[in-house]
Order: sequence, then C-alpha cells, then structure tokens
Amino acid sequence: MQIQTSAIHALRDLEHRAVVPPVHLASTFALDPATDGGDFAYQRPSNPTRAQLETVLATLEGSAHAFAYASGMAATAAALSTFTAGDEILLPASVYGGTYRFVDRVLPGRGVTGRYVDHLDDLTDADFTPATRAVFVETPANPTLRITDLRRVIELAHRHDALVIVDNTFMTPVLQKPLELGADVVVQSATKYLAGHSDLLAGVVTTNDDRLAEAYRLSQQAEGGVLAPQDSFRLIQSLKTLPLRLERQQANAQAITEHLREHEDIAAVWFPGSHSEHEARLHASQANGPGAVLSFELAEGLDRVAFLEALRFPAYAVSLGGVESLICRPATMTHEAMTPQARAAAGISDEMLRLSVGIEDLQDLLGDLDQGFAAARPR
Ligand SMILES: Cc1ncc(COP(=O)(O)O)c(C=O)c1O
Repeated sequence: MQIQTSAIHALRDLEHRAVVPPVHLASTFALDPATDGGDFAYQRPSNPTRAQLETVLATLEGSAHAFAYASGMAATAAALSTFTAGDEILLPASVYGGTYRFVDRVLPGRGVTGRYVDHLDDLTDADFTPATRAVFVETPANPTLRITDLRRVIELAHRHDALVIVDNTFMTPVLQKPLELGADVVVQSATKYLAGHSDLLAGVVTTNDDRLAEAYRLSQQAEGGVLAPQDSFRLIQSLKTLPLRLERQQANAQAITEHLREHEDIAAVWFPGSHSEHEARLHASQANGPGAVLSFELAEGLDRVAFLEALRFPAYAVSLGGVESLICRPATMTHEAMTPQARAAAGISDEMLRLSVGIEDLQDLLGDLDQGFAAARPR
C-alpha cells in the first residue's frame, strides 16, 4: 500500500464496518473476574482509540512500535528520559528551542549532560566519549534548514554504541523515514503536519527497538503524558489527508522559494539544500522533498514590523505545518530560550523570519507577500 492509501485504510472496523473508527472515552474497563484479565484495563496505560492511532502511526512510519503523547515535548522528553546520571547526549546547536530548554534545564538535574555541536555534519570520532549515549538530530534543522547526513551520523554513533534519535517533525514519514536509514528512535511534534490544522497538541515516538519500546510503554504508564481518546481520534482523521496536504504545501513552498530568491526585497532565503550543493545532494538522498518551511531575511532598509503588519494571510505566530500559512521570528519566538551566542553559533540572526507555507492558493500567497514587501520599503 502506498502512503496516502495507508493513511486512510490502516484501520478496519471489522465489527461494524464503519468507515470511521469509534471513539472510546472510558477511563476504566471491566476485567474478567476469573483471570483479572482484559485487552484494556485503564485509559492511561492503553485504550482502544489511542491504540488505533498508534497502529496508524506505526503503519505510516513502517515501525514496529508507535507511542502517542500529549505533546511533541512529552514525546521528546520520553525519548530523552531513558538516559541516567553520567550519560551525555550530543545535539546540534540549532535544535528546536523546547528541546534545548529540556536539555538545558531538566536533564542536568538528573545528571545527564547535553553537549552542543555547531553542525552535526562536522561530528567526528573525537566528539564521542565513553559517556556519550545518544546523538539527537534534526534534519532539516529548525529554522536554518541545514541538512545533516543521517547515514553518516548513524554509522558514527553506532560505532560508539550511542543511539540516534531523530526529530522528524519537519519531514513526517511522508518525506523522510530515518528508521529505514538505521536511526533508533524518531520523535515528532504531531501538533504540526500530522494534525495539520493548528488545533491539536500531540507527540509521537516510533522505534523498531523492543527494549526501547518497553521504556516508552513504561513512560506512558508511569508518567502519564499520554494523548486523550478524543484527540487520538482527531489525529487519526487528520492523518488521512497528511500526504495530500503536504503535497500542496510543498508545491506552494517551492514556488514561494523561487519567487523570493529572485526578489530585490530579500537579502537571503534558506531552504533544505540552500546552504551548499553538498547539502542539496544529501537531502535528496535521504528525503523525498524539501517540505514546506523556508526562512528568509528582508533586504537592508526594509521595515520588518511594517512587513509583518501588512501581511493578510500568514499569521505572525509560532508553530508550523497547518493548512494556514504562519510566519514567525525565531530569535524572539521559537528559539528565544537559546542564548544570543548559541543562536549566533546556529546561524539564527535577529532578522530571520520563518515561513510555514499552508495550502492557500499560491497566487494569493505571492500577492500577499509582495504587498507586504511594498509596505516595508522606505518612504
Ligand atoms: C521540531 C520540533 N520539535 C518538537 C516540537 C515540540 O512540539 P509540541 O509543541 O507539540 O510540544 C516542536 C514545536 O514547535 C518543533 O517544531
């Protein structure tokens, strides 16, 4: 089955033949008194609706296991909570700001250290110490859209007995499947493309490793940061249009990128592969497309605030991946938790704007951006 078909037909209601799965809201389930057994006992460890969502997520990823959490950060936290005192994790300098916050403020209390590398493609054997237990990767990176060679990092990390955890939020399994390349764990903020309508907070962890799966099952049971049944149902429904939405978002984003690259009002545009020929080739070798996020900087002399105020369609808001276009300023919004030095090292300037392209009609988006540039020019 191809991915758009799987997104729609991964589930079958054999009992009633309903084409939409039922929602089970029960917090508790009656057990068989003779055995104290049953398929489900209590909503937190597992429930039928979340289990159905997890089946769809595992089908799309092609993974043995999938776990649904109450947010992308709950999923990332679960993936980073299998490490213990004395362990070290390597991360790229431009990691998502929330992950940075967790690594910087929560993990040290557990004796776990996060060590930042300016760009993971510069990683060598010398970066690994006996304490290095994992490499956390985001490719394309947010918001610089720099590319990391997944195969190389996986080979290097495994040689040092370290796990590779990939945050695949920007790509989704439609465009990139890190587990197939050998990564150990994939985390995603389902709040973004998977849910796709800016109306749901959710996260996913997928893996083929049975031992890690046991740890994530324990995190759902013991910590309880799980996705509720109604949200699980809504995510099942949203996933049905994921490949279709992404196709349109990506086509729009590619056309906008071309428009901005030629534009006199734009100083720079960043997209997957824009940094070098090498990164373009790498991305093409490990992903099926550039996705639908790009970053840019206005030309000198243009008024950023006037531009943002003039925009009619992209809301000036954090987040991405929805059917509606959004624009944000990473330095003061998504990546505000990083120090100015860390932002500079990651290549995130104060003027950089990140655009998440939606499914609106392209002509409307292009026209809106152009009238924004005109409003931003010096008078
Ligand atoms: C790349 C990436 N990872 C993780 C997260 C965290 O997800 P959530 O906001 O669903 O907790 C985000 C949210 O912006 C993100 O962009």
